[in-house]
Amino acid sequence: MLNSVSISNKINKFNCTINNISGDKSLSIRWALMASQAVGKSKAFNILNSEDVNSALMSLKKLGIKIKIKNNYCEIFGKGLSGFSYKKNTTINAGNSGTFARLIMGVLASSNNSVIIKGDKSLSSRDFGRVIKPLNLFGVKINSKKNKLPLKIKGNSFLRPIYYFEEKGSAQVKSCIMLSALNTFGETTIKCKKSRDHTEKLFKYLKLPIKICKNKNFEIIKIKGKKQYKGFDYKIPGDISSASFFIALTLLGNNSKILLKNINVNKSRTGILDILKKMNAKVKLKNKKIYNGESVADISISSANELKSINCPTNFNSRCIDEFLIIFLICAKAKGVSYFRNLKELRNKESDRLKISINFLKMIGIKVSSKSNNLKIYGNPNLKLKKSYLVKNFKKDHRVFMMSCVAALTLGGKWKILDKDSINSSFPKFLKILKNIGAKIN
Ligand code: S3P
Repeated sequence: MLNSVSISNKINKFNCTINNISGDKSLSIRWALMASQAVGKSKAFNILNSEDVNSALMSLKKLGIKIKIKNNYCEIFGKGLSGFSYKKNTTINAGNSGTFARLIMGVLASSNNSVIIKGDKSLSSRDFGRVIKPLNLFGVKINSKKNKLPLKIKGNSFLRPIYYFEEKGSAQVKSCIMLSALNTFGETTIKCKKSRDHTEKLFKYLKLPIKICKNKNFEIIKIKGKKQYKGFDYKIPGDISSASFFIALTLLGNNSKILLKNINVNKSRTGILDILKKMNAKVKLKNKKIYNGESVADISISSANELKSINCPTNFNSRCIDEFLIIFLICAKAKGVSYFRNLKELRNKESDRLKISINFLKMIGIKVSSKSNNLKIYGNPNLKLKKSYLVKNFKKDHRVFMMSCVAALTLGGKWKILDKDSINSSFPKFLKILKNIGAKIN
């Protein structure tokens, strides 16, 4: 079968540096959206070249924005706040990208002409009620069936500022509201559970009127809208979510070492590193620097002799929301029982990642127990696989595919993993980099 990979050999010992983990997806999409609303030309270096980002750029083009793209370099010619120009009922296709689909709705809040947003099968099964609710309060009209895509959004130029309590800890919801607030006269207030803060950092970098008040569990964000800003240059660091597969490969591999260069290590994204440190892994950050307000560093990691289990604090959840699949795999080889709680949001990703993880761990012979979105993993440091394994029906979730490759390359057994093309959403170079460090993949 063409769109699948077969892996029958564990990866040999490696000691290498990877310079080209692809650009961060969250930052690439946010840069494109903010650049489309700036006045004049913006440039991005090391933008992620993937289907999700491409869906964002193609959609912005359809909304009347001029864009030039060459490999990892992109120029966007913004026309200022509410500067889109397009025909009524223009359809844009967000593909597989929940981030783009939800964030563009915030930008479209102030557009009088209606837009139809559609997505692929996986995105069309995901919840949009979470952004429809606050956007309705701003005064935006949205028609959808059961809060799913396709939907029709009709904004207006007289949005009213809102107060909103975002209690899911979703950066997509928070960012959608922030982008809508940017297009609204007056001050919008968001009380929110902590989640990745790239949009806040970009607003600050662009000197937009934003105030953030942090306490232990919540943050209060206040934004005054309608301030125009100029085009800006932006350098995008590597994506820690993509890097995490190589971190796990090294950790679970044999006597190996890796240095991953220029990775975004924003605190709101590095939950996986803190969890691994608690599990006894040798992880180090080197050569720390700042790119346009975002922390960047090289991550060095070595194979582990013995990993301890983890009792994961729930306030880590949003800091590693996209890394849970790979963290669970690491826990399968740790000594002792690992505990995770409040994983409901994992069910709302590109696939139901909680269900998929449970089935996957059981398939490789790991005992798990799960009750009401909590998970216990009974690790086995001596885990060695010999059977044949087939990974399929995972809604083409890119991260399920990549986690399965890491399992196959470190645990043994004969594997067939379907839907190879899924990696094009976030990390098209994944298999190529794996092969470069010695993985045998057919
Ligand atoms: C993202 C936020 C997270 C994450 C997604 C990217 C973002 O989603 O899972 O892959 O860029 O804001 P939620 O906001 O739904 O938690």
